[in-house]
Amino acid sequence: MPEPALLPSLFGRATAFLEEHRNLRETLDRLQSYCILLGQAEVAPELDPQHLLGHLCRLMVDHFAGEEADDYFGTFRREAPWLKERLQRLEEEHWEIVEVIGELQRVAQSTHRRDELVDGLARLLERVDAHERAEANLVHGFFFPVEVSAEAGEVPNVAV
Ligand SMILES: [Fe+2]
Ligand SMILES: [Fe+2]
Repeated sequence: MPEPALLPSLFGRATAFLEEHRNLRETLDRLQSYCILLGQAEVAPELDPQHLLGHLCRLMVDHFAGEEADDYFGTFRREAPWLKERLQRLEEEHWEIVEVIGELQRVAQSTHRRDELVDGLARLLERVDAHERAEANLVHGFFFPVEVSAEAGEVPNVAV
């Protein structure tokens, strides 16, 4: 069971990261708008794909670095060993997502690859959504370990 003294600050960190997911969502929504507009007409400068992807990449890299810090994922790893594999998978996904954004930035440089860009953006949005859901589930699993582990058929090391 997590140290009781840790819970308030860790819960605050978790709440802040979940809030940050909402901010990331705004940029993702603008990318989605871009997907809809793309090919229909001239798009506004703020919807320029390279501009948006560059902005998204900076947000994501900062967000992921914060999540992987010792006082967030590091605390989960120390206090909840049963979440270790899920944390590792989330960290792997961070760098896979950054790589996908980098690849889309290269695709966005060519106006001849717009269909590829639209498809790639749609897949990125789905992937980031799934990642955020998995992360929210992990946070829930940390604060309510018995409930989540019972669903997963695991028995966490929790004092009763
Ligand atoms: Fe993450
Ligand atoms: Fe996140």
